[in-house]
Amino acid sequence: MHRYIATGSAPDREGFFRQGAEEADALLAFCGIEASTEKTMLEIGCGVGRMTRRFSERYGSVLAVDVSPEMLARARENLADRSNVEWVLGSGSDLSPITDATIDHVFSYITLQHVPRQDAVLSYVRETSRVLRIGGEAGLQVRRPGWQAAVIDFAGHVGRAARGRPTLAAEWRGTRVPVASLLEAATVSGSRVELRPRGRRHLWLVMERVT
Ligand SMILES: C[S@@+](CC[C@H](N)C(=O)[O-])C[C@H]1O[C@@H](n2cnc3c(N)ncnc32)[C@H](O)[C@@H]1O
Repeated sequence: MHRYIATGSAPDREGFFRQGAEEADALLAFCGIEASTEKTMLEIGCGVGRMTRRFSERYGSVLAVDVSPEMLARARENLADRSNVEWVLGSGSDLSPITDATIDHVFSYITLQHVPRQDAVLSYVRETSRVLRIGGEAGLQVRRPGWQAAVIDFAGHVGRAARGRPTLAAEWRGTRVPVASLLEAATVSGSRVELRPRGRRHLWLVMERVT
């Protein structure tokens, strides 16, 4: 029997994956990314496979990257019935096992917001461009820069810490990367990028590889 970890609010296994599927569909639509069983999806920060299950239904193949061997082991077990997912243990800042220009779509949710170093977030942006085919698209969620979002986040961290959760730790708080650095990382690595705020605390980089 698993406990379903941190992400989402579903009380049971079925609800956990249903919520992951609904969020995956909604967020792909938000980014304007059209899934296809002819295409390959790369997910950065797959966790226990909550959204990966949905990607494996909507894509021909899925590469699911995570920095945690434990998460990958749980995900592999949870998706033992899916044959089109390759599980990839990542370094935490690059996609080095993945060959250049081989991926149609890259997606990352509730992952880069926890990465504590700006250089690692920017590396993921450049690496996303590197692995995308020309015309390939990506949606990457990061923390929204700016003091308003920082204040809202900080209040949330303090509130959760008061309830005994370790959310003041650097690996929970993550970092905010200036807009200019996000734009530069995407464009120098060959992608067109649009920054789309979603809510007051998060921003999506919606990218298309153009050169
Ligand atoms: C909150 S979970 C979210 C999982 C999934 N995206 C979802 O929405 O269900 C965050 C995941 O990101 C992974 N992660 C954290 N830092 C990472 C990094 N630098 N590179 C890759 N994965 C990372 C964690 O191990 C964890 O599995």
